Amino acid sequence: MTAANPETTTHLVPLLDRLTLEQKAALVQGADFWTTVPIPEIGLRAMTLSDGPAGVRGPRWDERDPSLNLPSGSALAASWDADLAYRFAAAAASEARRKGVDVVLGPTINLHRSPLGGRHFECFSEDPELTAELASAYVRGLQDNGVAATPKHYVANDSETDRFTVDIEVDDRALRELYLAPFERAVEAGAWSIMSAYNSVDGVTMTENALLETPLNSEWGFDGVVISDWTAVRSLDAVPAAQDLAMPGPAPAWADLVDAVRDGRVQESDLDRKVLRILLLAERVGALEGSPAIAPAAVDGPAFAREAAIEGSVLLQNTGILPLAAQALGQVAVIGQNARDARTQGGGSATVIPENVVSPLDAIRAALPHAEVRYELGAVVQEGVAEIPLAHIVNPATGEPGLRVRFLDADGQELFAEDRRATGLVWFGGDAPIAASRTIVLTTRYTPTESGEIQLGFAGANPGRLFVDGELVLEDSPVIEGTDLGAAFLNPPSLTVGVHVDAGRAIELRAEFTRAGAGALSGAFSATLGIAPERTDAGLLIARAVEAAASADVAIVVVGTNSKVESEGYDRVDLDLPGHQDDLVRAVAATGTPTIVVVNAGSPVVLPWAGGVGAILQGYFGGQEFGHAIADVLTGAAEPGGRLPTTWPAALADVPVTEVAPTDGRLAYSEGLHIGYRAWLRDAAEPAFAFGHGLGYTSWSWGSARRHEDAVEVVLTNSGERAGKQVVQVYAERSDSSVDRPVRWLVGFVVVRVEPGETVTATVPVPARRLAHWASDWVVEPGTYTFRIGPSVADLPLSIDWDTA
Ligand code: BGC
Repeated sequence: MTAANPETTTHLVPLLDRLTLEQKAALVQGADFWTTVPIPEIGLRAMTLSDGPAGVRGPRWDERDPSLNLPSGSALAASWDADLAYRFAAAAASEARRKGVDVVLGPTINLHRSPLGGRHFECFSEDPELTAELASAYVRGLQDNGVAATPKHYVANDSETDRFTVDIEVDDRALRELYLAPFERAVEAGAWSIMSAYNSVDGVTMTENALLETPLNSEWGFDGVVISDWTAVRSLDAVPAAQDLAMPGPAPAWADLVDAVRDGRVQESDLDRKVLRILLLAERVGALEGSPAIAPAAVDGPAFAREAAIEGSVLLQNTGILPLAAQALGQVAVIGQNARDARTQGGGSATVIPENVVSPLDAIRAALPHAEVRYELGAVVQEGVAEIPLAHIVNPATGEPGLRVRFLDADGQELFAEDRRATGLVWFGGDAPIAASRTIVLTTRYTPTESGEIQLGFAGANPGRLFVDGELVLEDSPVIEGTDLGAAFLNPPSLTVGVHVDAGRAIELRAEFTRAGAGALSGAFSATLGIAPERTDAGLLIARAVEAAASADVAIVVVGTNSKVESEGYDRVDLDLPGHQDDLVRAVAATGTPTIVVVNAGSPVVLPWAGGVGAILQGYFGGQEFGHAIADVLTGAAEPGGRLPTTWPAALADVPVTEVAPTDGRLAYSEGLHIGYRAWLRDAAEPAFAFGHGLGYTSWSWGSARRHEDAVEVVLTNSGERAGKQVVQVYAERSDSSVDRPVRWLVGFVVVRVEPGETVTATVPVPARRLAHWASDWVVEPGTYTFRIGPSVADLPLSIDWDTA
């Protein structure tokens, strides 16, 4: 049984009273993949929900309706800038409204418990305070602009292996002080909804878990809607739990809801409570007659995306090679697949389809107009098929660039057809009659630009056949590993065959996929028609890169992960760069040409050659303007704004928490409070780069710190010659504590931007709660804490005593 509704819904009771039991039961389940049920009789329209959170995809996964692709969560967190997070969310709100979206399914605020976590790129940080501060700014940025935020996934969905079933064992202190803390602050910021996770905590699946009521509702005063993760509602037991909206809908697990109320298995009052909250959400987003929808402020999307990517770029190392002396550069070697085919976002449900992506290669060329830029691939990063570029395909039905997609029923009758402009296609909602289709046929005319054998094929979760000029060349069924249908569907395996092609001679391609049409994802389908990387000799690619580097004044190598490495539904198995990228960097650096490495990954990767290169810039998944941001930072047009939101290890073996796979269905968070830098400090272990670390192009002198009421005032000077950004970080220590404590933990931070020679006073608020530990309640242990202040957890030049009295 759940507690009464908050007072904020009292005025909606008359509307509730006008609803039938059937209407109420319908309203607590989605109408389809992305929308809620409209009830025109009471002036309620459907609400549309959509992923992000790094931009907003909208209800259709469709290249004909593209989205602004902002940097991923880890990049946003690297800015350490709450104002930026607010503006980021405001940009998302403006995208949401443009796409008719009322509720954004984000931010993702699970923690970087382990760098192996598959959705690490999407989450903010290993630190609950940094995550909480940015999460609350994100929530306000969306909701001040009239769009609901949905912080997710409540709670302890910090890794992906067996995510539907894994049971997380976590002690109360770790739960409260680490994993729940960002959700608490997001609710404090006024979140209108929260997403419940797939996993269990202490034996109970989250859509039925008592944590939905306490602390979320009863302690924190949440008055919003708990939206289930997609298909996470398993049974009617989620009804008495504070699980409000089952998505997508209609939810099979609640098909029996009306009867269950009638025969007393479920209380109608539990249903009413949910309905009132859904009506309140509708009122808040302007979906209820008479409730005004706020028009979001206009945003220059690409300009903001560029700024956000700059602010999230972390200069890890610099021997003085950066910023580049652009005028003095004659020849520049740009090397790496990610330089040309940048990864601007991670995989899975967070995917948005950008209209345009700026690659580092193009942006560097544009930024260095006087230099001769030579590009070499160096190493293959891509795995499986990649889409065929639009410029090389013609839709036989229209004669325009693109392809024709036909949907056939069991008798081969065409139900629907559409003309698309991409060969990687996902239907997850939208107009096509997926559930009724048994065969889906893609046809296009492809004109290769080079002669030779290519690896042609498809990726999908369904059996497929590929015809070239009418002849069957490939027929196969993918082997789906694991039980995560979402993973299989959003990141399916590739099947290919070698096909000889001639440059300039068009070939007709037809791919046919058959589908059964049952199960939870019966309305969803994905398929990519594409080309896998050539089986090129790795040594040859490296030799060509070395040759280009040897004759250049500087070599810029862009290394990174690929779409298979960082995604949803599975975790990483190691932290290595895929393919032969490490050999490539070593070989380029060995030429003696000054070498800069740009890392294009959403999570830490191991950089075993770090000591041998001049500079390392971690650019994360920087969104659609990634290339411009990288070029701006390399040339010094912009200051690298980022600081690591997560400790960067030198080797996987050094990482304190690597257990992300359950044993017998259970995953024990046995490290308790000690994740991230807390664990590194406890073990006195040395990472490659510490939490909070990041260089700029100026120098700083840390003057003094003092307490002023509940804040620390820090005086610091930009002692260099360029304007700069600094993140003033305050950590607490309590060496004589009576309870288990981290060696030190982040209690506050603030960004300052300072002109050369200027001295500023940074004020960092530290409410008493930042010192508290959980012991059935929040307790501030009396006595003296040491506050240590500086630019990273490992570099703390200032300290003060802080008495609780
Ligand atoms: C993901 C959520 C996402 C939902 C809808 C789930 O598989 O875990 O983060 O919002 O799908 O796409």
